[in-house]
Amino acid sequence: MEQKRTLIHNVIVVNEGTANLGYVLTQGEFIATTGAGDPDPSMMEGAEVIDGGGRLLLPGVIDTHVHFRDPGLTHKADMATESRAAVAGGVTSFIDMPNTKPPTVNRRALADKLKRASEVSLANYGFFIGATADNLEELKATDYTKCAGVKLFMGSSTGGMLVDSLTVMERIMAEVPALMAVHAEDEALLRANREAVVSRYGEELEMEFHPVIRNHQVCMKASQRAVETARKMNHRLHLLHVSTADELQLLEPGAPEGKLITAETCPQYLAFSDEQYSMLGARIKCNPAIKRPADRDALREAVKDGRIDTIATDHAPHLLEEKRGTALTAVSGMPLIQFSLTLMLQMVEEGLFDIRDVVTKMCHNPAIIYGIDRRGFIRPGYYADLVMVDNDCEPYTITDAWALSRCGWTPLSGLTVNNKVDFTMVNGESAYRFGVLFSSVRGKALRFTPKE
Ligand code: DOR
Ligand code: ZN
Repeated sequence: MEQKRTLIHNVIVVNEGTANLGYVLTQGEFIATTGAGDPDPSMMEGAEVIDGGGRLLLPGVIDTHVHFRDPGLTHKADMATESRAAVAGGVTSFIDMPNTKPPTVNRRALADKLKRASEVSLANYGFFIGATADNLEELKATDYTKCAGVKLFMGSSTGGMLVDSLTVMERIMAEVPALMAVHAEDEALLRANREAVVSRYGEELEMEFHPVIRNHQVCMKASQRAVETARKMNHRLHLLHVSTADELQLLEPGAPEGKLITAETCPQYLAFSDEQYSMLGARIKCNPAIKRPADRDALREAVKDGRIDTIATDHAPHLLEEKRGTALTAVSGMPLIQFSLTLMLQMVEEGLFDIRDVVTKMCHNPAIIYGIDRRGFIRPGYYADLVMVDNDCEPYTITDAWALSRCGWTPLSGLTVNNKVDFTMVNGESAYRFGVLFSSVRGKALRFTPKE
């Protein structure tokens, strides 16, 4: 059978540090050719031709930090609903976290997730296995060509998968040949902060207290320990959702290749600060907490100089009912996958970032850091995961009604933007086009090159 070919031309191709007018020809699942200027007319023969009208064409976003809640918490979200939100937002691959029900802490739970994703996911998928105090044998026996790495929670968050012993962390690093991704918040310190705040102000705490309890020291202490341990054990460590200026001292600028320690931040730490709690309340309550304007500004600088290597969403849907309550009782986490690229491009529009850096942090570096097979770049022979964005559209205001996530809301409700995702291609197939989802499209399992 003839393989389907699609020619996308008259687009600004943003890839590997350049942004030039050009074209991409896909054939079957893969990119066949890409070039500058106009394509040779012979390429149009037998191909579906898409005139991009000067829009941007980027590699599909790889969101390496999501909580799709499937299995067990599917009243909030599931892989079908959230993968739709993903492709509508230009995300063609995701890596999901283990704090589901049951938690993904053994090979069986991992296999179940892979099977479920193959049945329902519109985007390509990968999964972490979670560390516990006693699952070393499972971690050792896992095939890390099919699993993104080991996720370890140093501080408690949704799901109660806490490992606050450095001895356990060391043993895993010594014996498990896989990248370790950590949620670095110091459990003892955050408990002490919580007690101190409650004894002084009582339990009816406004949301502004969230970053007082989960403060800078809570993050710094845990990140420092994780980094020291990784250095001592000479083990690959990826610090998740870095939220403070302090932690940036632990990181090196430049490209991720060759680094022992790499780091992620999320759009919410780049766009918001604690000044927004009074307006947005629990909608922007997440762990780690969003900190001060000075932290936000320092994180922006670190994205530019490479101390921050990746931008992922920490997409963590919860129902708005679950978001009611105080700084102690409202659940933590927000959905973001559908609007993360739009939010980052809006910050480009405001002059805060260069679009090429956004592509590096959201597409290229995730593929490099997790060793993802043939994705994250626009290169011949790579999978045709592409996103076309109109970055000069009529301004429109995002509202909760736009949210495709099951939880039905977005922390960006009320934000006016002038860019939108128009077209998302996953493995050479249209998954989303001008507001229409092609629900029968299925992504593939990501393949990884394990890194010790
Ligand atoms: O805010 C958060 N929400 N932080 C986490 O670490 C977990 C996540 C969730 O699963 O809800
Ligand atoms: Zn998370």
